[in-house]
Amino acid sequence: MTEGYERRPRDRVDLIIVEDDPGMLKIVARHLDRMGYSIRAFSSGAQALKAVEEQPPQVVVSDIRMPGMDGRTLLQVLHERHPEVRVVLMTAFGSVDDAVEAMKAGAYSYLCKPFKMDEIAAVLRNISRELALEQQVSTLREAARGRYTADRLIGQSAPMRRVRSQIREAAAHATPVCISGRSGTGKELAARAIHFESSRSANPFVPVNCAAIPAPLFESEMFGHARGAFTGADHAQKGLIELSDGGTLFLDEVGEIPLGQQAKLLRVLDQRELRPLGSPRDIRVDLRVVCATNRSLEAMVRQGQFREDLYYRLSVFKIAMPELSARPSDIPSLADHLLVELSTEHGLNCPGLTEGAQGALLAHRWPGNVRELRNVLEQALVRSGGLLIDLGDLPPPLSTAEPAHSGMGKQEVAPLPANLNQTLAEV
Ligand SMILES: Nc1ncnc2c1ncn2[C@@H]1O[C@H](COP(=O)(O)OP(=O)(O)OP(=O)(O)O)[C@@H](O)[C@H]1O
Ligand SMILES: [Mg+2]
Repeated sequence: MTEGYERRPRDRVDLIIVEDDPGMLKIVARHLDRMGYSIRAFSSGAQALKAVEEQPPQVVVSDIRMPGMDGRTLLQVLHERHPEVRVVLMTAFGSVDDAVEAMKAGAYSYLCKPFKMDEIAAVLRNISRELALEQQVSTLREAARGRYTADRLIGQSAPMRRVRSQIREAAAHATPVCISGRSGTGKELAARAIHFESSRSANPFVPVNCAAIPAPLFESEMFGHARGAFTGADHAQKGLIELSDGGTLFLDEVGEIPLGQQAKLLRVLDQRELRPLGSPRDIRVDLRVVCATNRSLEAMVRQGQFREDLYYRLSVFKIAMPELSARPSDIPSLADHLLVELSTEHGLNCPGLTEGAQGALLAHRWPGNVRELRNVLEQALVRSGGLLIDLGDLPPPLSTAEPAHSGMGKQEVAPLPANLNQTLAEV
């Protein structure tokens, strides 16, 4: 499942300011706050360091000369413990030596007091750009590692081959895609594969668990809001739709979108424009939507719980994820793949499953689909301590099941080979 409702805005740079002059601290903090940075302000180096340890920011802007821990010492400590934090030092007018020394010690930049707000804004803009680029590079790396391609969906059964070819077809176009399927069938994996196989892969994949956003917050989360749009909106905030600009917005559990918000979403899909709450202007977005549901949207439309027009707009291209019980011949290769994945995660080197354990996997109905299979194998792996997994290592009811009578032809089920690494290469 997509993560629960916990969102750290990606568009706002986290910043800590340290300055012992309270007047100066207030002015700078207020100004940067207005510019949309997320600010924590402190009057001493020690306080700032404590705050960094609690939650590292992306940038620290610090005065050099302060009583107690000065800016130079703070820079040194941050350099050692949090090399990813960029440090900008503020030096008194005329103390060029301080500035030179700061740069040598690894500061990102320095500002000579008194400075104009434009100067600090320019430095922070550069940092924001760098951070955005770093984010893009890591997204690309992830894609390049092949973590999320159609081939990550294991299974040679006809339904799985069809799903992989649908994913590739969907990736080649920008039309909305609706992925349906029971829990644990790989809907999110398919959605990521569509994004990472598409020409949008260098831009963000933004997963939204529609069921986890409280209804009253849905609009501001999706569409964003201007500063002062409602009580407590002390900053402007981009919405998730805007954050997915150029990339893919993944609406997981799309059936849970509050009915009242569905028309607004439809408008964005049609017009490629949105208006953040409290903003006087529309924003253009280059939007691609992939949605997933384990409920029947058709039935919801019939019951008046989901707008028909939105349903048609979202389901231009449909992919139905097959249940695991409909493709039992995939169980051995899936188990093989998942065991390699899990062994790596747990630092173990599991050689595979005994015949008895394989039989139990084949006989089970798997109502929780691949996620259930993964959980079962994880428990068994831990219980076996990384040795060959036997029937008794499987959790109940699998461990107590009758020997396999799955009704499958024997040749339909590929035997699970003893050497997992070899078979993964073959796969
Ligand atoms: N065909 C597959 N090959 C390999 N791994 C798979 C496959 N299908 C699913 N998985 C794995 O199973 C787990 C569940 O998949 P995923 O989260 O994509 O399912 P889902 O359909 O979104 O489930 P839910 O409806 O519960 O959110 C993940 O760990 C995923 O990597
Ligand atoms: Mg899911």
